[in-house]
Amino acid sequence: MTQFENKVCIVTGGASGIGAKTAEMFVQRGGQVVIGDVNDEAGEGLAAAIGDKAVFFHLDVSDPASCEAAVDLAVARFGSVDGVVNSAIKMAPGPLKDLAHADWNLVLEIGLTGSFLMSQAAGRWMIDNGRKGSIVMLSSNGGRNPYGMSGAYSTTKAGLIMLAQHLAIEWAQYGIRANAVCPGHTETPLTAYLQDPEIKQARSDVTPLGRVGQPEDIANGILFLLSDEADYVTAATLDIDGGIAKSVMNHMPGRKWS
Ligand SMILES: NC(=O)c1ccc[n+]([C@@H]2O[C@H](COP(=O)([O-])OP(=O)(O)OC[C@H]3O[C@@H](n4cnc5c(N)ncnc54)[C@H](O)[C@@H]3O)[C@@H](O)[C@H]2O)c1
Repeated sequence: MTQFENKVCIVTGGASGIGAKTAEMFVQRGGQVVIGDVNDEAGEGLAAAIGDKAVFFHLDVSDPASCEAAVDLAVARFGSVDGVVNSAIKMAPGPLKDLAHADWNLVLEIGLTGSFLMSQAAGRWMIDNGRKGSIVMLSSNGGRNPYGMSGAYSTTKAGLIMLAQHLAIEWAQYGIRANAVCPGHTETPLTAYLQDPEIKQARSDVTPLGRVGQPEDIANGILFLLSDEADYVTAATLDIDGGIAKSVMNHMPGRKWS
């Protein structure tokens, strides 16, 4: 029996990057997936490439009706919803002094509120239908560590850690687990600057494991949290970052490490 046989997962932001790789690997391991995204072209292309165990849905996570419709589609096409991966994001970087109200709202609405709405829609179905489930939030190193220009993003990502913990505690009684992953720099369309070989090398040099992350590195952690092997794991936060978030003391001027 394969790992995700008879399991159905909705992946938001599933048309690109980490979400796309997670969708692909979920199906490779026997599951069925709803790829939810506002990017129709990329999403439809990915679903076609994966095959009949994948379906694309035009999902806008900021719209509760759209999230409910994604659940309806998963149930109609594949029979259930067992997992949710909340990967959708929009960036609006800028210093907090100047950040526009609309930009602040955009990042929080898609990253944080969208994850709540999608989790709520799926969780309601699981609870009403007596199904266990697993919800994974895409937080970030930024959710634990502030950095330049990322006030709205990091606040969103910190909120996702607490949202996962809240859902975990509220819904443990239904057998629904919720966890967060914190990727470090990972090569996706979101981090196009990593295409610059100098930046990529410099980032690799400051990462304890010596390289930047790939989408499959993050997907492997997400799939673990979705799987029955993580049956006793809830309210947890998993760093998947080559160790970089814990390496700040390595970079203090004047310290000797070798
Ligand atoms: N790439 C990294 O270095 C990195 C690091 C830490 C955390 N993360 C997090 O991982 C997640 C995935 O990142 P990625 O690098 O794969 O990004 P990405 O830009 O490749 O993919 C994000 C997807 O979200 C979709 N999206 C945007 N608005 C949406 C909406 N309203 N409804 C549904 N989908 C919407 C986009 O169309 C896109 O396909 C994000 O939450 C990101 O914050 C990424």
